[in-house]
Amino acid sequence: VNTTSSRDIFDVIGLRRSVRSFKPDGIPHRQIEKLVEAAQWAPTPGNRQSWHFIAIVEPAALEGAKALSPGLPKSVSGLLVVCSDHRRWGDAAEEFARVTAIEEASMATENILLAASALALGACVVASFSSEGVAELLQLPPNIEPILLVGLGVPDEEPLAPTRRTMREILSWNTYKEECSAD
Ligand SMILES: Cc1cc2nc3c(=O)[nH]c(=O)nc-3n(C[C@H](O)[C@H](O)[C@H](O)COP(=O)(O)O)c2cc1C
Repeated sequence: VNTTSSRDIFDVIGLRRSVRSFKPDGIPHRQIEKLVEAAQWAPTPGNRQSWHFIAIVEPAALEGAKALSPGLPKSVSGLLVVCSDHRRWGDAAEEFARVTAIEEASMATENILLAASALALGACVVASFSSEGVAELLQLPPNIEPILLVGLGVPDEEPLAPTRRTMREILSWNTYKEECSAD
């Protein structure tokens, strides 16, 4: 992602938005590879790197995926399915492996979202989808579990930043202090 047009990391973090409206243009394969390259450098427990990424760019498969995920913006022109490969879980206890698989996928996904923003691609992460449906659509073997979807495309909107909680609400020093509003 280290291109000359890359934005400063704090700009990339602050300017990343969930984009939900896309132009019809396709995304070059090389750009999708750049996103997965960013994901590759995310941390994983013991460096196990249990992820597997499936890039969906063919219209029929995209339509199939949209039908299985109501939260996925309709105009996406690409999709990255962030999966965990159970064969790479090693001998970790089942519950630990499962929770950390989600953590691992989430960290890889944030890298994807930031890299997309740096490359001026639009992206939106979606967690609600039919896992069984996606497994069937993509003919996943039983060891490959889809965890998150990332819709991708050329942005057709510049969403305003949703508000964030204040620093006072989310940060306390040394011990927990309830200065914050709970809503
Ligand atoms: C786990 C997870 C699931 C999400 N699912 C959806 C979704 O189904 N549809 C959607 O449009 N956005 C989804 N989002 C995006 C959030 O709505 C968005 O991140 C939040 O409103 C803040 O906006 P921002 O990303 O532009 O800062 C999801 C985000 C996360 C982290």
